Amino acid sequence: MVAGNWKMNKNLQEGLALAGELKQQVKNPACAVVIGTPFIHLASVCELLKGTPIHVAAENCADKDKGAFTGEVSAEMVKSTGAEYCILGHSERRAYYHETPAILKDKVELALANGLKPIFCIGEVKEEREAGRQNDVVKAQLEGSLFHLSEDAFRQITLAYEPVWAIGTGLTATPAQAQEMHAFIRSLIAEHYGKAVADDTTILYGGSCNEKNAAELFANPDVDGGLIGGASLVAEKFLAIIAAR
Ligand code: 13P
Repeated sequence: MVAGNWKMNKNLQEGLALAGELKQQVKNPACAVVIGTPFIHLASVCELLKGTPIHVAAENCADKDKGAFTGEVSAEMVKSTGAEYCILGHSERRAYYHETPAILKDKVELALANGLKPIFCIGEVKEEREAGRQNDVVKAQLEGSLFHLSEDAFRQITLAYEPVWAIGTGLTATPAQAQEMHAFIRSLIAEHYGKAVADDTTILYGGSCNEKNAAELFANPDVDGGLIGGASLVAEKFLAIIAAR
């Protein structure tokens, strides 16, 4: 899978223009292609991309199912736009909006209950890697939000390993660092759900992945694609990354 995460970029018209360019170019991709857009774009982008191989993701959903939560957008609302995926646990949500593993657990359950497939982000910050704690951090994130799920539910999850120090910094994990962590994540899944589930789980890499380094990252056996921020905002770059998968 190659998934884009537009974050808080592109107004509606600009977003539709980018989705339209992708629609023209992505005809027979060799992998699943997903674009994650702001909430307000979802319905129009889904309509535009209907019948194409491009899938649509929200970048978040609420941790409550409905009611008096002004400004929030529920998983059911996301689903009703035609979106199929929901990015959850992004490090920016964890850091700036204080989303804890417990909150994310609720969001995952609501997404699944409403037929959305979570793209769940995990990853350590710089200080944690420097202290050699990255494996413990990632393990705790998985245990805190996902490993309570049944096997069937867990099979709906796509994981994205996004080392926080690599996001938007131009500092990419080396292919060896990515492979090492992805293999570790897959071993944890195998411990909890067995080898078949682990082998079937898609684990994306994210963090300054671009059209120049994507092929080298994707060549690793445990790197199943990418979650792309900045480079997903430019059609040619995103298309080159899809071609690299
Ligand atoms: P960049 O590709 O801009 O580093 O962002 C990665 C990311 O956070 C995707 O979710």
